[in-house]
Parts: sequence; C-alpha cells; structure tokens
Amino acid sequence: MFNWDDPLGQQRLSAATSARAGGIAQVAPDADGLPAAVRAVQATAAVRAEDKRVINGQADINQLAPFRYPWAWKYFLNANKNHWTPLDINMAQDIQDYHHRLTPAERHVYENVLAYLTTSDILAMRNIGLAVMEKMSAPELQIYQARQVYEEALHTWTYQHCIESIGLEQGEIYNRYRVVPEIHGKIEIANRRLDSILRPDVDLGRPEELENFVMAYVFFAAVFEGCWFYNGFSPIFSLQRRGLMKGTAEQLQYIMRDEVMHCGFGIRTVKQILLENDVNLDPRALRDMWLEAEAAEADYAGFILREPILGYSVEDHNAQFHYIANRRARQLGMEEPFPGAQCRLPWLDEQSNIRKEKNFFETRVTEYQTGGALKWD
Ligand SMILES: [Fe+2]
Ligand SMILES: [Fe+2]
Repeated sequence: MFNWDDPLGQQRLSAATSARAGGIAQVAPDADGLPAAVRAVQATAAVRAEDKRVINGQADINQLAPFRYPWAWKYFLNANKNHWTPLDINMAQDIQDYHHRLTPAERHVYENVLAYLTTSDILAMRNIGLAVMEKMSAPELQIYQARQVYEEALHTWTYQHCIESIGLEQGEIYNRYRVVPEIHGKIEIANRRLDSILRPDVDLGRPEELENFVMAYVFFAAVFEGCWFYNGFSPIFSLQRRGLMKGTAEQLQYIMRDEVMHCGFGIRTVKQILLENDVNLDPRALRDMWLEAEAAEADYAGFILREPILGYSVEDHNAQFHYIANRRARQLGMEEPFPGAQCRLPWLDEQSNIRKEKNFFETRVTEYQTGGALKWD
C-alpha cells in the first residue's frame, strides 16, 4: 500500500528503467502490492528536456521542468499580467450612448459585432480546451492553454455583461448566428475545422490527420484569433474614437490583448510542430483557407455595415483584413496571401493599446504595471 507517512520511502523500488525517454518502465509486481502504474512512475528517471515534443511525445507529461519550450512558460507568465473582470469597467455611459446617441446603423453594427463575438469565443474555448490541449504532450504548452481556456470563458462573460448592461434581448443576440447568413458563414467555417479535430479517433501518427490538425491550428490561431477577432473589434474602436461606447471598447481592449497572445502562441506552436514533424502543408490548401476566410469576412462586413457609419467603412474593414492576414502569414513564415495590402486603419494598433487609451480619455485609473512589456505582434 501507499505509505502516507513516508511517501518518498517507496522510491527504493527498482530503478532498472529506460531513463532516456521518460517512458513507463516495465517493473515486475512487488511484494508490497503497490499498484503497477504508481510503482512504474516512481521507478522512472527524471524527464529530459530534449525528449519532450509538442505532439506525439513520450516524455512524462506530469513533469513541468526542465523546459523544452521556455517561450510557452513565458506566455503563461505574461498572460497572468492581464487581469480584469468585466465588472471592473463602468458601463453607465454606454447605456446612454446606445439608447440615445447611436444612430440605427451604429446600433446595428454594435449588436451584430456582439452577436458574432459571443458565439466565436465559445468556439475558441472549445477548440483549445477540448480539441487542442489533449493532443499536446508537453506540460508547459498545456498550462498556457489552460489559461487560454479560462480567458475565452472570461471573454464570453464580458460580452454577456455588455449585453446585460445595455439591455439587449439575450436569446435573440445569441441565436443571431443561426439566422443571419453573414454571421453563420464565419461560424460554420470554424465549426467545420473544429469538428474535424474533435473526433475521438484522431490519430496524429497518421500524416493526413497530422496535416489536418496543423491546418486547423493555423486557421484558429492566424485567421480566427489573429484576423477575425483582431479585426472584429475595430468597428467598436471606431465608435470609441468618437467618444461612443467607451466602456464596451475598453472591455474589448482587454480581450484583444489576450487574443493577440493567443494568436502569437498558436503560431509559435504551429512552427514548432512543423520543425519536429515531417509535415508539409499544401500551399493550395493554405491559399484556399485565406480566400475562404476573406470571402466570409467580406460578407460579414457587408452585413454589419450595410448602411455607412461615420469613420468606418466596408472598404476599411476588408482592406484591414488583408493587411493583418499578410502579417499573420509572415509570422508563420509563409507566403503573404494578399500581396501589396496597405494598412487602412493606422490608428488601430494605437487605439487598442490600453495604456495610451487610458491617458487619452482618462476614463478609469487602471493599475496595469506591466502592459508595456507585452509585445503585440
Ligand atoms: Fe477570446
Ligand atoms: Fe482567443
């Protein structure tokens, strides 16, 4: 039996094992009746960093250090610097703005941005938490992703808080992605990718499954989080620039900081998988991914901006998608999908920086000591 008074005393068990891979040793049953799995783990030597792998690794995943991927641990430490809850941010002026200052076209933009985001963040949470995390074989990666799962849930809470504060019809907003084709189009693409890697029989030892998994990861990191979220907040930031819906915009600034990190981590992870495995992504499949994302985004932009609003247009939105998509492709070390795209919203990176925004509007004093340390791209 396991001795609670002297747990380490059990270490005397046989250590004739394969220390190298950190794998489970084959140890014969012992007279003390210790469960075979416990005895085997105890008899295994410490994990070596060089034996870890992002996927399909054999090293004991319950040993955090030594780190093979110190960058993943840094992401976790950095993520913990962006703490807030939606209750921290005053929404009182937004209620006034929505009901008395926004035009019908601006209310349409606001509601449908929220309708898209509510569904998207649940999808993002399910992707990382249910489909991706379980396939990682290094704990430093899983630990950041565990934080990411929490952050996606926090984002959903944030949208819910905005919806509640403004007094929007909750059921109608959440259901909108099912009845508005231009919102459904983006969600359907993401759902298709997620479904393809959520199956219980996914075997990353098979080349076609591995390629599909990496493509899904590229999609979620570079397109879904890196472009659609990044770009998705900009209509609200354009209202904020005019002094409207500043509480909501501040909430989105916090979310955007998380999303940029999710995107950066995902891209870094994809690159590591490509380094460690013999997988070649099909350039045509990558191009098709970007074109499909572009078409869905253009449909969405045409819907939310079917009537123009001051200071933000369909053309701005689509051009900025191209510009950010190129940035993500470069980060991946891949060919730009939209060569020659120009930055259409030069204020966007500045606008989404919480510190600058605080100084400019002086809306709320936020203790955020380490914001300048976070890298945005
Ligand atoms: Fe999110
Ligand atoms: Fe995310």
